[in-house]
Amino acid sequence: MFSKYRKTDTPAKPKAAKADNVAKLPVKSEAEAPAKPVTMRRPSIKKSAARPQASDKEQKRKERLGDLKIELHRALLDNLNLAALEHASESDLKSEIGDIGQEFLNEKGLVLNREDRSTLIQELYNEVKGLGPLEPLLQDESINDILVNGPQQIFVERAGKLELSDVTFKDEKHLLRIIDKIVSAVGRRVDESNPYVDARLADGSRFNAMVPPIAVDGSLVSIRKFKKEKLAVDDLVNFGAFTEEMAAYLQAAVACRLNVIVSGGTGSGKTTTLNALSSFIDDSERILTIEDTAELQLQQTHVGRMESRPPNVEGKGAVSQRDCLRNALRMRPDRIIVGETRGEEVIDMLQAMNTGHDGSMTTIHANSARDGVSRLENMIAMAGIEMPLKAVRSQISSAVNLIVQASRLQDGSRRMVSITEVTGMEGEVISMQEVFRYQRVGLTPDNKIIGHFTATGVRSHYSERFKLWGYDLPAAIFEPFAAE
Ligand SMILES: Nc1ncnc2c1ncn2[C@@H]1O[C@H](COP(=O)(O)OP(=O)(O)OP(=O)(O)O)[C@@H](O)[C@H]1O
Ligand SMILES: [Mg+2]
Repeated sequence: MFSKYRKTDTPAKPKAAKADNVAKLPVKSEAEAPAKPVTMRRPSIKKSAARPQASDKEQKRKERLGDLKIELHRALLDNLNLAALEHASESDLKSEIGDIGQEFLNEKGLVLNREDRSTLIQELYNEVKGLGPLEPLLQDESINDILVNGPQQIFVERAGKLELSDVTFKDEKHLLRIIDKIVSAVGRRVDESNPYVDARLADGSRFNAMVPPIAVDGSLVSIRKFKKEKLAVDDLVNFGAFTEEMAAYLQAAVACRLNVIVSGGTGSGKTTTLNALSSFIDDSERILTIEDTAELQLQQTHVGRMESRPPNVEGKGAVSQRDCLRNALRMRPDRIIVGETRGEEVIDMLQAMNTGHDGSMTTIHANSARDGVSRLENMIAMAGIEMPLKAVRSQISSAVNLIVQASRLQDGSRRMVSITEVTGMEGEVISMQEVFRYQRVGLTPDNKIIGHFTATGVRSHYSERFKLWGYDLPAAIFEPFAAE
């Protein structure tokens, strides 16, 4: 059989695996094979607690199918022409995998039923072309995050809640091979001397891996899936992340070029909020975005995107967010958006906000608006800037106008728990006022949080500015929630 995907044009027999490596399937040799083909049932995903014996059997089947897959995968790698494979269509490659697989099974005297066969082909396709066991998780739209703790434990986040998936890798070697496949595709390396790496998957998802010996119990991988359809302001209002009134206030704030910081814990929805807020920027403005991993998807036409770069294997070629930011200032931006401020770029960010690039936005990792300010102070101190604390604070207070706090609550819901205005300095302290907050009132029996958004009743420090810019917000927006 001729195939452009094989290394040779002659029918390439898969290398027979050594006898002790062969998956011990419930069939003898071809010569002794029973008249009725022995088939393997598809391993059931759900484990039945009530029938431990049956589930043991299923587990064994699953392991056998797993062993077979690894062997077959090795045979495929020996036989497939990897260069031609790059351009192979999914159906061509699957049919090729099917053919090689069939030869392999014939040689071993094994028969699989149709369902097992197509599962095996799909899994092998995922191994050859995709990211192996991670592939179905990457394709599952309901999953936001994938967190791998060694080969046998993969957690996923659905609807704000972490759950253990039943997907596993065969062993650490298998996991390492997939990690290596991801990082080598972006020209990086991860090994004992270089044990952690950040990368972006082909589909835009954010990827981080840390391998042994630093990762003690096996490689750790975190993937934040890239959503093609970013949540818009309306979606967030519909999900209950904030109210229409808060959206109207935020629209005025962004349109009037207030400098906004979105603060929040890990995975609290900072980037999503920043992206949604950016939709309030006028389409005529020139926006430059700077990120470590390009996640933002701005709707405007005039957008320049920058992504920082870590050093290469020789430790050269790094381009930091600070480098990008400094350069961005020479590129005539109307607004600068920094995906997350986490280091020395804070100085340039504050300076930009203070010097004519108002309307700039960023996110920081902090648990409250007050915390966010302390975090900015710490970042400045750690960047080695020797400035009296009062001067640092005055710099922050004149740069930052608004801090929006995002939070993932214990029931998995993500909400904008507070919108706080920075109003100036009182002595040595930065003064702030909360304008909106999420008020928790209790828990339902199934642990869902009961609460509501409310204005705090204070008059916005920026109300004059809103008016001057044509955003005359109705006073009712700022009235506290009245329980009926
Ligand atoms: N209000 C929301 N409702 C439902 N899902 C949301 C909401 N906000 C964010 N998400 C989802 O939660 C996940 C995490 O969001 P996002 O990336 O914005 O968080 P983050 O705070 O920037 O995280 P990190 O700290 O890792 O950068 C994303 O998959 C996003 O689609
Ligand atoms: Mg983020």
